[in-house]
Amino acid sequence: MRQIEKILQEISEEEHLTYQSFADGWILRVGDKFISGYHFAVNDAAASQLCDDKSASYECLKAAGIPAIAHYFFLEMDKARLAQIRSAHGELVLKPNNSSGGENVVRASSITDIFDKAEEILSKSTPLAVSPFTPFSNEYRVIMLDGKVQLMYKKHIQSGWKHNLGLGALPERMEQNQQLAFLAMQAASALDIHFASVDIAETENGLEILEVNSGVMMEYFSAQSDENYQIAKEIYRKAILQQI
Ligand SMILES: Nc1ncnc2c1ncn2[C@@H]1O[C@H](COP(=O)(O)OP(=O)(O)OP(=O)(O)O)[C@@H](O)[C@H]1O
Ligand SMILES: [Mg+2]
Repeated sequence: MRQIEKILQEISEEEHLTYQSFADGWILRVGDKFISGYHFAVNDAAASQLCDDKSASYECLKAAGIPAIAHYFFLEMDKARLAQIRSAHGELVLKPNNSSGGENVVRASSITDIFDKAEEILSKSTPLAVSPFTPFSNEYRVIMLDGKVQLMYKKHIQSGWKHNLGLGALPERMEQNQQLAFLAMQAASALDIHFASVDIAETENGLEILEVNSGVMMEYFSAQSDENYQIAKEIYRKAILQQI
């Protein structure tokens, strides 16, 4: 069972709301509202899909003047455009354009490797996002609800180069950091998203948005300690009480 199921069950009981589970617990219903995966009814569906589209959300952030790591969209193989992006940026990161938990996120520098990895992702019938590899030592996650910071943590890599908790990185909770909070607020507002996880990289150009997830997943974070479990629970409680 996912942590979110256990947490929402507890909240339902405490708040005297009905709780139902469908599709092996992937779809939950609290009161008369659904929670689908990690997506809550507090978000507008269009804004939610926009956030989960890495290249489209990059475009919107850029248009709003918010610093973000570039993500270029590919629906099909385009060797000329890939070669052009490579000559402009050097090493690239290739990933499915929608969320994947870090699994299918790969790096490539030679043009043949870039073509092969692009083919591989596109062959899975998923659009591809191509991003300049940007070395950064620190990545942060800021969880936002209604323009307010709910939680902020730094992701500590244990091995490798990806900051996904699902791949072994460890969260370290932080006190309010003005710069991170301001950037996360700007990003959430620019994308019209109420409840979201904003991932921010600390690059040599300063803080830049890596991605905004409209599904708020706190599985690894909440499993880490009783304290984290309670923090996650209170955040989900606010989202639930707002959506009923
Ligand atoms: N352009 C980039 N430059 C350097 N590192 C990157 C870049 N893009 C991604 N990474 C690294 O790979 C990790 C995973 O990438 P990203 O967060 O974009 O995809 P994801 O985790 O699969 O998506 P989601 O979090 O939505 O499931 C990041 O935490 C970061 O460490
Ligand atoms: Mg990520």
